[in-house]
Amino acid sequence: MSVLVATDIHKRFGTVEVLKGVDLSIQKGEIVSIVGPSGSGKSTLLHILGTLDKPDRGQVMLNNANVTALTGKKLAQFRNHHIGFVFQFHHLLPEFSALENVCIPGWMAGTKKQVVKDRAVELLGLLGLSHRLDHKPNAMSGGEQQRVAVARALINNPDILFADEPTGNLDSANARELHQLFFDLRKNFGQTFLIVTHNEELAQLSDRTVHMKDGKILDASAVA
Ligand SMILES: Nc1ncnc2c1ncn2[C@@H]1O[C@H](COP(=O)(O)OP(=O)(O)O)[C@@H](O)[C@H]1O
Ligand SMILES: [Mg+2]
Repeated sequence: MSVLVATDIHKRFGTVEVLKGVDLSIQKGEIVSIVGPSGSGKSTLLHILGTLDKPDRGQVMLNNANVTALTGKKLAQFRNHHIGFVFQFHHLLPEFSALENVCIPGWMAGTKKQVVKDRAVELLGLLGLSHRLDHKPNAMSGGEQQRVAVARALINNPDILFADEPTGNLDSANARELHQLFFDLRKNFGQTFLIVTHNEELAQLSDRTVHMKDGKILDASAVA
């Protein structure tokens, strides 16, 4: 089953054509890496696939819903329920604990407080952070902060988790640990991942690597 099907995605900023017709589909439970030189359009593509930006042309289907057509509240709601995002910088809220940071998107989704909390505790445990529930972000290491960001992205059981250079700020030991956790999450929950990375090791471990250059995908194998 395809979780994501993107067809003929085009995007320009001013006179610069950043995406020149990208087709990509991702199957449920797949871990796919996007690699390519800086400026090749990886982040722009990920933002469009993750509904944070709109394409000028083309269509994004997520779980059989045409998200390109969604706007306003409906789009925000869809994103909250179906999409997880992890960035290079964790973007945790500094005044809230790890547990609260993970719970917030669940509360925003309207899920019962206790249900959200139980899942947050479970996720933080899976990510090796049971001893950090009450810690604020600045009292945690970079690797721990990023794992909290992953738990937050997963709190509403998203259909797909998009990650934009999630290990870009981590040392190699923490990067490796985070990669291992992605594979554990796939094993335990069938979680689907699309990850932009410069990390060769992660790219090699993933099921499929998509190569981007100058706003296009090079591989014929991009469409599964
Ligand atoms: N909001 C924006 N406004 C103008 N240009 C942008 C914007 N976002 C990205 N770009 C340009 O689009 C190109 C691709 O950027 P990006 O998608 O960030 O590439 P990558 O993630 O592969 O490094 C770059 O030339 C960048 O300067
Ligand atoms: Mg980028």
